[in-house]
Amino acid sequence: MHLPKAELHLHIEGTLEPELAFALAERNGVTLPYATTEELRAAYQFDDLQSFLDLYYALMAVLRTEDDFAELADAYLARAAAQGVRHAEIFFDPQAHTARGVPIGTVIEGLGRALERSEETHGVSTQLILCFLRDLSAESALGTLDAAKPYLHRISAVGLDSAEVGHPPAKFREVYEAATALGLRKVAHAGEEGPPEYIREALDILGVERVDHGLRCMEDPELVARLVADRVPLTLCPLSNVRLRTVDKLTDHPLPAMLAAGLHCTVNSDDPAYFGGYAGDNFDAVRDALALDPEQLRTLARNSFEAAFLDHDEERRARYLAEVEAYAFD
Ligand code: HPA
Ligand code: ZN
Repeated sequence: MHLPKAELHLHIEGTLEPELAFALAERNGVTLPYATTEELRAAYQFDDLQSFLDLYYALMAVLRTEDDFAELADAYLARAAAQGVRHAEIFFDPQAHTARGVPIGTVIEGLGRALERSEETHGVSTQLILCFLRDLSAESALGTLDAAKPYLHRISAVGLDSAEVGHPPAKFREVYEAATALGLRKVAHAGEEGPPEYIREALDILGVERVDHGLRCMEDPELVARLVADRVPLTLCPLSNVRLRTVDKLTDHPLPAMLAAGLHCTVNSDDPAYFGGYAGDNFDAVRDALALDPEQLRTLARNSFEAAFLDHDEERRARYLAEVEAYAFD
């Protein structure tokens, strides 16, 4: 669907398509444990978040140079633009690269190169969100933020991702305080596999302005009331939820109930190379499976621009919102 939208929940490493993975493997002399792209695609059967993360981290071995990161981001931006994405706030996982000996500067400068020409090349404005891996230590997160200091002009926010259960937001209080002091915005994954309490912690202890996923808030009516009252955006990823078995079937997805409850929902792709679709595909899928009408779809698109970190450029936000209102559904 080409409805104009902002993508607010997108892991750039999760846009690595099998074809690019093999091309980069060859270029960098890396051997993948799969013979063909078909064999690799056949491995995309996940039981839960961890089974996905195992493959997601393994395939990153092919990303080594600035050019690799620039190519990865450029390929994503081209696909996103073709599906109506006008603005993308893009996650990256520096620790997954520094742990393999790739310097953080290589990652950020490579991604930055693609992002800085994105408006001209693809008509997509961009921001970069540095994510901490929550299954690593709080000290490692602090060291990562410190290592990112020479590149802060390229980074607008911090996030928190990877294996959720057993790694509550409170573990990262100190690094979020440090990020606040540096003027960075704050988001965190919470309530994907973890309990509603993790959403409360992300709000109360980390001070996040958006919650990534946040699906499990629906188990806690008081929390829902708070999220509605405070208009906290939730960045939902419907196809991801099905592939990682957070919901059984797309027709069971709580999105319609969440919209009806007045939650500030947005629809995003998470790791589109792995989960079967980019942002527009996610919109198509929820329209078809959940019988969303054009006004509900327009609300989701409007929500995405309202939730974007565009406070420094309200003119741009207004322009994007006007595009949403002008969009004609066929
Ligand atoms: N959840 C948590 N961590 C992640 C994800 C996700 O869906 N994708 C990449 N890292
Ligand atoms: Zn995610």
